Amino acid sequence: MKAVIPAAGLGSRFLPLTKEQPKEMLPVVDKPAIHWVVEEAIASGATDLLIITGREKRAVEDYFDGSIRWDHYLKANHGNALRQLEELASSADFHFIRQREPRGLGDAILRAEKHVGDEPFLVLLGDTIHVADVPVAKQLWDTFQRLGQPVIAVEHVRPEKISDYGIVQEDGWIDDRTVRVRDLVEKPRPEEAPSDLAISGSYVLTPAIFDAIRRTPEGKKGEVQLTDALRILLHDEPIYGYRFVGRRFDIGTKLDWFRAHVELTLMRGEFREPARDFLRELLREG
Ligand code: G1P
Repeated sequence: MKAVIPAAGLGSRFLPLTKEQPKEMLPVVDKPAIHWVVEEAIASGATDLLIITGREKRAVEDYFDGSIRWDHYLKANHGNALRQLEELASSADFHFIRQREPRGLGDAILRAEKHVGDEPFLVLLGDTIHVADVPVAKQLWDTFQRLGQPVIAVEHVRPEKISDYGIVQEDGWIDDRTVRVRDLVEKPRPEEAPSDLAISGSYVLTPAIFDAIRRTPEGKKGEVQLTDALRILLHDEPIYGYRFVGRRFDIGTKLDWFRAHVELTLMRGEFREPARDFLRELLREG
């Protein structure tokens, strides 16, 4: 299974943090955000990963590469941390391609066309982390196997969050988790949104998306949106939304990132108790 991980965004919502380092390398608990995403892809059965990067994103490539300096030092000291990363990096083929200009998510996905060939593929956004017993990407892939049509992970969001996401207009549920998509709209105003069902950042797509992206006009900021391309694709074939089982952490804004970092730290066995004690103390003082 091939997975495409777009990680080319400028990260402007994170400035100045992202002035010299990629957003995808921001720490979440004790590893970079993109490490979590790659783990999910591999746990879901992906054996071939294409990470779409851009300028100033070399750290992402270097992270999954071997390093003689660290190998030597870490094997003697913190061997375990490095071994886990090595295991991860050696359990799939990693490929990198650059999006030459930041022209939106749709344009980034189009860079994957040659690599993907004529197979269906996973798309996992580099700034979205899922925690689930069955990896969310696997849930999507299984749904794709069942339906044979593109599938988008969706979840209900609070009204104040609607304008941060692509939103799906429903066309009837075929079971309690799977919805037929009638239309999609990228980041609508809450009062204009067709529902509260948000596109949560994981997709199983087919190569038909590439032609749809080529037919998609640029949006407001000169960007080609994947949501707009999916909308074009909807004219030709059905698309399904899948309300996944699990938790999703968006690290799209500073506050969301902070929340993900704190909650995921509290979920980690070795940190849970001391982190809880620390937070309790802090809140009492506040
Ligand atoms: C992108 C998509 C949007 C989706 C979101 C999920 O937006 O364009 O449809 O809901 O990811 O995180 P971005 O967060 O890159 O602005």
